[in-house]
Amino acid sequence: MIKKVLNGKELAERLNSELKNKINLDYQKTGIRPKLAAILVGDDPASKLYINIKRKTCARLGIDSILINLNKDITNTELFTKINDLNSDTTVHGIILQLPLPEKFKPFTLEFIEKIDPLKDVDGLHPINKGKLFDYNEEIVPATPKGIITLLEYYNVELKGKHVVIINRSNLVGKPLIFMFLKRNATVTICHTSTSDLESHIKKADILVVAIGQADFITKDKIKEGVVIIDVGTSRVNGKTRGDVKFEDVFDIVGAISPNPGGVGPMTVSFLLQNTYNAYKRQIRE
Ligand SMILES: NC(=O)c1ccc[n+]([C@@H]2O[C@H](COP(=O)([O-])OP(=O)(O)OC[C@H]3O[C@@H](n4cnc5c(N)ncnc54)[C@H](OP(=O)(O)O)[C@@H]3O)[C@@H](O)[C@H]2O)c1
Repeated sequence: MIKKVLNGKELAERLNSELKNKINLDYQKTGIRPKLAAILVGDDPASKLYINIKRKTCARLGIDSILINLNKDITNTELFTKINDLNSDTTVHGIILQLPLPEKFKPFTLEFIEKIDPLKDVDGLHPINKGKLFDYNEEIVPATPKGIITLLEYYNVELKGKHVVIINRSNLVGKPLIFMFLKRNATVTICHTSTSDLESHIKKADILVVAIGQADFITKDKIKEGVVIIDVGTSRVNGKTRGDVKFEDVFDIVGAISPNPGGVGPMTVSFLLQNTYNAYKRQIRE
């Protein structure tokens, strides 16, 4: 019997406290703390908020962090140079380039990500790290999928032989999850805005991962009884954060569900910091 509420907040707190202990022990031995550098281009308020949350958690866990806030009028070359500087700064172990970039940089997003040293790519978006995942190597994977899989495994949700339906095909969520679920012998269906008859796919899911950012998109009438739902998408409704699933509506018939907020969000932050710690360990060993 699995628990019905997949409480990501509680699990993330436990993982964070374990990580804090490991960081303290390493610091006592080496005198070096992990350090995360976040690059923010422009002043998008949502991006600023996400970076603040990440940096606050860094501080709680004993990870140093710096914010490099660049003016949106800088040139591509200046941004490339900044990334190179951080690559060669041996005191920096992890680099995140906050996405989305401002409009004029968007077509070059992949080129910027490719400039990040793969060892410091704590978002798991560098082509080398994406390629490793293709071979089921999960050494560096994006934090959200890692958080989702960990949440399911922690609550003993069986994945082998299950039909997983994912509504999202982004690099940060849906695509990495394909390989992570396949590795665990699930059968995977990926849906997106061009999927025909989305409802019939949703209805067949044993495990449903929804990451579209549309409040109350999933309701009781759309799902199969006993389905396990991971609610990833976030949107703001009347000043409150909402998930993609109408929680109170589906609760009686689901097998289990991750609340939103309080599910995938805290797990994501936790695994970003876990990725930073792993990057630090790899680099101080070299
Ligand atoms: N809680 C967390 O920690 C966390 C972490 C990451 C993301 N998120 C949230 O998850 C959501 C997705 O993030 P993202 O970065 O992956 O965004 P994204 O790149 O915009 O991807 C959204 C995906 O959803 C699909 N989609 C959107 N509306 C749909 C619809 N009505 N029917 C079927 N498919 C639909 C899109 O299809 P197309 O590809 O066809 O456009 C796309 O694949 C956002 O709300 C974000 O805030 C939360």
